[in-house]
Amino acid sequence: MCGILGYLGRDNAVDVLVNGLKRLEYRGYDSAGIAVLQQGRIEVRRSVGALRNLEESLKRESLFGTTGIGHTRWATHGKPSEQNAHPHCSGNVVIVHNGIIENYLTLKQRLENEGYVFESETDTEAIAHLFAFHMQERRSFLQAFRAGIRELRGSYAIAGMCEAEPDMLLVTRSGCPLVLGQNENAVFLSSDVTPLLAHTRTVTFLEDGDLGTLTPRGVTVTDGEGRPISRETSHVDWNAEAVEKGGAPHFMLKEIHEQPEILLDTLRGRYSYDAGDADLLDVTIPLETFRQVRRMWIVACGTSWHAGMVGKYLLESLIRRPVQVDIGSEFRYREPLVQEGDLVITVSQSGETADTLAAAREAKRLGARVLSIVNVVGSTLARESDGVLYTRCGPEISVASTKAFTSQVMAFYLFALHVGRTCHVLNPEDGRWWLDQLAAVPGYVEHVIKHEAELVSLAKRFYRKRNFIYLGRGINFPIALEGALKLKEISYIHAEGYAAGEMKHGPIALIDEDVPVVVLAPRNQLYDKTLSNLMEVKARNAPVIALVSEGDHSRDVSADCVFAIPDCHALLSPIPLAVALQLFAYHVAVLRNIDVDRPRNLAKSVTVE
Ligand code: M6R
Repeated sequence: MCGILGYLGRDNAVDVLVNGLKRLEYRGYDSAGIAVLQQGRIEVRRSVGALRNLEESLKRESLFGTTGIGHTRWATHGKPSEQNAHPHCSGNVVIVHNGIIENYLTLKQRLENEGYVFESETDTEAIAHLFAFHMQERRSFLQAFRAGIRELRGSYAIAGMCEAEPDMLLVTRSGCPLVLGQNENAVFLSSDVTPLLAHTRTVTFLEDGDLGTLTPRGVTVTDGEGRPISRETSHVDWNAEAVEKGGAPHFMLKEIHEQPEILLDTLRGRYSYDAGDADLLDVTIPLETFRQVRRMWIVACGTSWHAGMVGKYLLESLIRRPVQVDIGSEFRYREPLVQEGDLVITVSQSGETADTLAAAREAKRLGARVLSIVNVVGSTLARESDGVLYTRCGPEISVASTKAFTSQVMAFYLFALHVGRTCHVLNPEDGRWWLDQLAAVPGYVEHVIKHEAELVSLAKRFYRKRNFIYLGRGINFPIALEGALKLKEISYIHAEGYAAGEMKHGPIALIDEDVPVVVLAPRNQLYDKTLSNLMEVKARNAPVIALVSEGDHSRDVSADCVFAIPDCHALLSPIPLAVALQLFAYHVAVLRNIDVDRPRNLAKSVTVE
């Protein structure tokens, strides 16, 4: 789960690496390090904690070299410490690694018997010694690298360099992302495209088993045996400003505020108003096949799982077909009853989440087709799926997912509309009506953002509380889960999301005057029932924050605080409600002085089980 980076060019690698690592910090930030070739010698600098600590250390004692590699870490083997931070050296070899080496103990034992001394608790150090070991046998760095990776089991993206061959960086991947880039002056490698945007838009995504060689002459890709492989280059449209905070205090706030524009982007060019249909040309599965789909499944993790739950409610209510939703880590190990003819929809912002990827592979093994709703273009999940519906929300840097969630939900609206039209459950007129509704969603989000000050006031009133409960019904039950997840992950307040009707079956025992209850009560067919649940918690003295539809006055009597979203169709309320809860969680976290973009113990992309 770490970020790796490499540079070989004419400028000082230190600046390129440090600036690039800032873009990758979302992948892990418990320690960071770089290695450069300074006058032919490997020089390593590592620091515990945020990248600024490494910057400080480089200010105290500067380095210069035009070739280098860098790393930002999220610990798996060994606690965050300077010793465990990457890069790791052995002999005249230095490497950085993202992933987990499953057979590192066996390798370690063997290498220790050969006389290698391990200085860290990491699995990565075994790779460095392994390469050095193979170099001892008078092999070139490339030969040693190839021989070494043949012995590795697990997941990895590895970049390495060697004093003996200073004009070369070597990289490989298996199960972890890696992208190469180049311009007229330099070549680059990275865990994702964001650090490269300041230098180039032309990139090459490596596949598992690829070995990349970066030299002043450019980039070549071969397989593990040295046979050349041609990998297509892609053009990346994201602009460099997209990965900056744009003046906002945190990426999370910037990303929340981007949502009206992003939701438009998700929709843009993807419908035909005349046909009253979504036009998902970029999905490569022939969409007519949806008529024959035996059973639909949705599989995802975390916030993406919540989007999947919204998708289930949506698909079932629009097209009246059963949909099963699963958490990635559960699906992969419970021998799911997936069969040929089934469609498994996997949802992921990063497209690299290990459990979601494993679920997609399992679904394919069982004969299902896999359609993925993904944000990161060229990610492993996108490449391995039969079809991809990109959410187009741009890079999401904040660990707490916001814009990815709402764009995933928007993608489900488009998908459900298209399946409904394809299966003739919706006629063109229904379709046009839906498209009108979808076109209004960005405006609903704008409305919520305009009323952010009300959410700040709510945050000020409640940020010292230690427990929260979120209640929702129907399509807004997953929004209660998502609201609670947002609050807990960035404010460290304990929060539970519940189906409102389930309250009385146990959780109501938790309620007292110190436990605020957030009730999602927009106008819909379950409104009265939700209001009854609100009254039940109120009767037990809980402070109630109600999120209702604009113009609803009946709630004034019962809730302590009210926030109104625009009065929209019931199936569309999840998006404005989610945005209101994102803003509430954000302001609570800020008031609690938490580093919102870097919540403790979390990483943006969970590429390990
Ligand atoms: O990249 P993915 O969408 O597959 O990530 C899934 C979860 O790890 C992610 O949504 C996580 O729950 C976020 N921290 C939520 O804000």
